[in-house]
Amino acid sequence: MAQKSPAAASAGVRATPSADGAPVDTDEPRRTSGMSRRDFMANLGTAYAGTTALGVGSHGGRAVAERPGSFKGPAEAQDPGAGEPPSALELSLRVNGAEHRLQVDPRTTLLDLLRERMGLAGTKKGCDHGQCGACTVLIDGRRINSCLALALSYDGADVTTIEGLARGEALHPMQAAFIRHDGLQCGYCTSGQICSAVGMLQEIEEGAASRVTSDVMRTGAVQLTDDEIRERMSGNICRCGAYPGIVAAVREVSLMPTMRRTRT
Ligand code: FES
Ligand code: FES
Repeated sequence: MAQKSPAAASAGVRATPSADGAPVDTDEPRRTSGMSRRDFMANLGTAYAGTTALGVGSHGGRAVAERPGSFKGPAEAQDPGAGEPPSALELSLRVNGAEHRLQVDPRTTLLDLLRERMGLAGTKKGCDHGQCGACTVLIDGRRINSCLALALSYDGADVTTIEGLARGEALHPMQAAFIRHDGLQCGYCTSGQICSAVGMLQEIEEGAASRVTSDVMRTGAVQLTDDEIRERMSGNICRCGAYPGIVAAVREVSLMPTMRRTRT
């Protein structure tokens, strides 16, 4: 009876008996469309040798000279448009109450769009990797890290940045509380802290539990202890260590009966 060698078995190669009855591994049964795998590999090698010898490659149907040392991976080699910037696409956004229609490169982050295209530099770029919270803005009332958000993903959204919280000369209660409680030193993280705190109070009111919420079965607003504030604001880093003032400011605003949040 024909037996598979261990190597052949693991490679999925079938074993057939030879003329003397000894098992022989062969891939001949894989022949399809008149060409065996061995024939195919041989042809491939010949074709590769030909293009290498000529020093040319095919890209988008045109023969182009390869730069020495330039390697094109399989995806790039097969994509005629690789290397070309994608076309701009249209985006509609409501930012701080004003409607905007823009043409944006699909790779643009919301943070860069706000800062570089719209001049809203109050939103800060800290780490650009979703780790510091300096870029926090509100989308339809919910806080997000705008450095991780592709602008096009938010087509039609309502964006509130730090510039949109105040009403004219009247600061948002959270802004005023940060000043009152010295919740800032250099101020770099502050716009993100304030937007995050405003979004967080909305989450509290909706009853969203956090890691330190003791009773997750409870419905209605969560009791906002200092531990809850610290946990829920832990995505916003302050390198100056203004945390005591930040917690005090958030606590004070959370106790206001007529707490005003965003324009949304
Ligand atoms: S800049 Fe977005 S999280 Fe740091
Ligand atoms: S106030 Fe300086 S980083 Fe927070």
